[in-house]
Amino acid sequence: MTDRIRKESFRALVKPPEAAAALINNGDLLGTSGFTGAGYPKAVPGALAKRIEAEQAEGRDFKVRLVTGASTGPQLDGVLAKVHGVSYRSPFNTDAGMRNNINSGETEYFDNHLGVVAPRAVQGDFGDFDVAIVEAVAITEDGGIVPSSSVGNSQTFLNLAKKVIIEVNTWQSPGLEGMHDIWSGNSAGMPGRDIIPIIKADDRIGGFSLKVDPSKVAAVVYSDEPDRNAPFAAPDETAKGIAGYLIDFFEHEVRKGRLPKSLLPLQSGVGNVANAVLEGLNDSPFENLMGFSEVIQDGMLKMLDNGKMKIASATSFSLSPEAATEINDRMSFFREKIILRQQDISNSPEVIRRLGCIAMNGMIEADIYGNVNSTRVMGTRMMNGIGGSGDFARNSYMSIFLSGSTAKNGKISAIVPFAAHVDHIMQDSQIIVTEQGLADLRGLGPVQRAEQVIKNCAHPDYRPMLEDYLARAKKSSYGLHTPHLLNEALSWHQRFVETGSMLPA
Ligand code: COA
Repeated sequence: MTDRIRKESFRALVKPPEAAAALINNGDLLGTSGFTGAGYPKAVPGALAKRIEAEQAEGRDFKVRLVTGASTGPQLDGVLAKVHGVSYRSPFNTDAGMRNNINSGETEYFDNHLGVVAPRAVQGDFGDFDVAIVEAVAITEDGGIVPSSSVGNSQTFLNLAKKVIIEVNTWQSPGLEGMHDIWSGNSAGMPGRDIIPIIKADDRIGGFSLKVDPSKVAAVVYSDEPDRNAPFAAPDETAKGIAGYLIDFFEHEVRKGRLPKSLLPLQSGVGNVANAVLEGLNDSPFENLMGFSEVIQDGMLKMLDNGKMKIASATSFSLSPEAATEINDRMSFFREKIILRQQDISNSPEVIRRLGCIAMNGMIEADIYGNVNSTRVMGTRMMNGIGGSGDFARNSYMSIFLSGSTAKNGKISAIVPFAAHVDHIMQDSQIIVTEQGLADLRGLGPVQRAEQVIKNCAHPDYRPMLEDYLARAKKSSYGLHTPHLLNEALSWHQRFVETGSMLPA
């Protein structure tokens, strides 16, 4: 174990998780590591949840406020949600229990672009951080914290928190050491932010470990639990259809000379559809691909393995259990091909704009004009959060949104007259793809966009209804630039809420 903690004075701080959890107080603001189910602390949150339960059993209220990199897993969001121990959560969550608490109104949830969490934390938007809890694979001789399977906002939380708890996770491969790229420039504080010197997706600009003021380290805890590593659904016909249209489109763009043969650095969002597209690229004619994304999923790992992709830069893994085992067994091979950075660097508008990424993100729904809802089912129920989709959609060379044309066995159309919530305005969505086809909206005005979206992306069950809506709106809308029937625009959502289907009876 000692080779995991190589700084003598930190070895003296090793405590059981319960002793570390005792350092946390009711109402504390916690900043933890963790991004898309990877690299989050596991032992201390478990002990904290037990403590919260015990305090509540004695009639004392005990809740914490929790800010992370992105989603975590059952050992953090899951256990704390179960004991109703979180009063405030930001910025991205996929845990079902936490989602319930958010949607019941019990937990206040601040959904935010992942690339701006660190700068906004430095600006003080969250208040003062009491405790940082960061998972590590090792602590170096000079006290550097080697992150595990994600970097997220850990450096910012280590800088800002009054107290620091480090979880050294022995399940995580020690071979991760050397994969990270931790930049020490100023990307968050004002005035005088530095230029982030990434010119190519594979540029390394920093060191291998996070820095911490040793006097703030209050405890070091061992853990050995695996990351969440949820399995992906095997690509179904819908996902394969979406991937097929997208790859045809890329081939067309290469032929037209608008994309190079190696494409441009690829960003791929979370979820089954985005992963299926990556799987599809594995069988495509493109070579020497580069990834500049926030997560590395199974599909990207496969491309790195077979040489289709040269390098992938991200802030985190988001792998199935099989892929996590595979990478842990072959870390020295993958270490040369993967760079994990802070999330304000992986999702930096400056860098994304310079590299000219191709952004590919899932969505809940798009309206006929291409306004995209990524987060709120029926406009009101939080799914996961905006994640990094906004960081990439606004700043990429090309912004693509993907979804099946229907959800919930055809009861919901993903193409609607009016999006019930808008995360990405129409100016930030250029290409929309469903299994029905692809709408290339570049340079089109609103009515032209609507015609393309309805014709190419809507499901046949809903297409005539959308055509009818647009035709009537074109006759009687208050303005004819972006025609709408205001008293009907959200009627499909209302019908679903009332009857369980967007289709008329
Ligand atoms: N209405 C209601 N539910 C919908 C829906 C719609 N229009 N579209 C999708 N869903 C539901 C699905 O039914 C499914 O629900 P289930 O888990 O109960 O089965 C769930 O959303 C996931 O849908 P799926 O079709 O499997 O797509 P996905 O896994 O690709 O996820 C998003 C789609 C939108 C939820 C996901 O992409 C997301 O969270 N995006 C926002 C964050 C983001 O883009 N990050 C990118 C940078 S990492």
